[in-house]
Amino acid sequence: MTPHPVRLLLPLLFVLLVRAVDSVTNRWDLLALRDLKSSVDPASIPRGSCLASWDFDHDPCDSRSTDCFTCGIRCDSTIAAPSRVTEISLDSAGYTGSLNSVNWTAISSLESLDLSYNSFAGPIPDSISSLSNLRHLHLSKNSFSGPIPASLGSLGSLQELRLDNNQLTGTVPPSFRKLSTLCRFQLEQNNLSGDFPDLSLLENLQFLDASGNQFNGTIPSSLPPNLLVLSLRDNHLTGTIPVAIGDLQYLQVLDLSNNEISGAVPPFLLGHPSLEQLNLSLNNFTALAEAESKGGAESRLVAVDLSGNRIGGPLPTSMAAMPRLVSVTLENNRFTGAIPAEYAERVAGGSLGRLLLGGNYLHGPIPGEMMGLRPGSVNLSLVDNCLNKCPDYLFFCRGRHQKSPVDCETFGS
Ligand SMILES: *[C@@H]1O[C@H](CO)[C@@H](O)[C@H](O)[C@H]1NC(C)=O
Ligand SMILES: *[C@@H]1O[C@H](CO)[C@@H](O)[C@H](O)[C@H]1NC(C)=O
Ligand SMILES: *[C@@H]1O[C@H](CO)[C@@H](O)[C@H](O)[C@H]1NC(C)=O
Ligand SMILES: *[C@@H]1O[C@H](CO)[C@@H](O)[C@H](O)[C@H]1NC(C)=O
Ligand SMILES: *[C@@H]1O[C@H](CO)[C@@H](O)[C@H](O)[C@H]1NC(C)=O
Ligand SMILES: *[C@@H]1O[C@H](CO)[C@@H](O)[C@H](O)[C@H]1NC(C)=O
Repeated sequence: MTPHPVRLLLPLLFVLLVRAVDSVTNRWDLLALRDLKSSVDPASIPRGSCLASWDFDHDPCDSRSTDCFTCGIRCDSTIAAPSRVTEISLDSAGYTGSLNSVNWTAISSLESLDLSYNSFAGPIPDSISSLSNLRHLHLSKNSFSGPIPASLGSLGSLQELRLDNNQLTGTVPPSFRKLSTLCRFQLEQNNLSGDFPDLSLLENLQFLDASGNQFNGTIPSSLPPNLLVLSLRDNHLTGTIPVAIGDLQYLQVLDLSNNEISGAVPPFLLGHPSLEQLNLSLNNFTALAEAESKGGAESRLVAVDLSGNRIGGPLPTSMAAMPRLVSVTLENNRFTGAIPAEYAERVAGGSLGRLLLGGNYLHGPIPGEMMGLRPGSVNLSLVDNCLNKCPDYLFFCRGRHQKSPVDCETFGS
């Protein structure tokens, strides 16, 4: 016996009705999204922006709502039903507001939160630390203030933490030594202070930028072992360069410029097997130890800037043997002795595009190879030294005169 057509249609009708009242989006996630939008000053939501499109008469995770939630969120229907919001990634439309009235605990499947390049202000809420699935937290270039919550150290899945370019104060919480999955950590351009913490347990950390803060004390004697990039530029760090930096076997970029670091530039820096960029300018270094073995031939250094220190002694000859080196800045130190012929050969051969030696106590003649260089062919400067002659018609002598004999005698040149 075939059933009556109406009896066939009834279950279908029922399903359609249920869909209409039941949200595709998890109820708690929906509330959190609503709270986020309502905590942004409406005047700061421009037409055409992601937040302007968020219309809560529609269901954010419903595929039929793509006209109303054009951007800013991602949902995942495979991890749970109703769907969970896994990503909030706002455009940089200039939104202002704070994050305090959002129930971050509610949106517990969030893996990525990106509010970069806006004008969010106020503290970073402690409750963000309840987002145990969070892999990316990007709050760069806003106006967040106050301390970094120590509880963020419990985010056990965090891979990228970008808090740079805000007005954060206080220290980096010691709890951050537990962020063992962290690969990238950006703190630059804040107002953080105190000792820079020991992060040596962070075996996955490759990129660490804490420049432009007020960190003082010494560089930690133990560092994350797999760093590629370490920048602590523009702080108030003191003491000497720790031996641990020589053990960072993948390090490519080291920028410690504009601190108060003293002592010698250690031999393991110029002799480092992977280092490509070294900037120690504007510190208080007084000596330079040459690359110990192999005379620089195996170095991968491309650019070295040691300007603005008090380094004495002869120019390091190992540099001339570094095959990839294109930029050498040794200005404003206390280097003495003659300009090595090897330097002049590299410049004349075109493989060293920048050699800035001004503001030292170099003496003797200008190497012959340099005399024929044409202006614009190379960035070369020998000004403000103790050279026999450095006439103005040579472009690399122009700008500042050679030092007076009296000044030159001070350093035995
Ligand atoms: C925040 O969300 C959690 C989990 O979904 C819930 O248990 C809690 O009551 C919410 N808190 C507030 C203040 O709404
Ligand atoms: C940073 O801190 C210093 C003092 O520690 C203070 O004078 C300065 O105003 C602060 N800057 C910001 C942007 O908060
Ligand atoms: C580092 O700065 C803090 C305040 O920001 C200060 O209390 C401390 O004495 C400073 N330490 C050093 C070694 O200068
Ligand atoms: C080294 O650092 C100083 C100060 O932070 C900066 O002005 C300079 O451009 C840097 N040198 C190079 C070669 O990037
Ligand atoms: C540099 O070192 C000298 C002595 O070695 C010290 O007198 C001076 O204060 C230091 N300068 C800075 C900026 O740390
Ligand atoms: C050479 O480099 C210095 C330092 O970066 C820069 O100030 C100068 O303009 C450069 N000169 C030329 C001719 O490129």
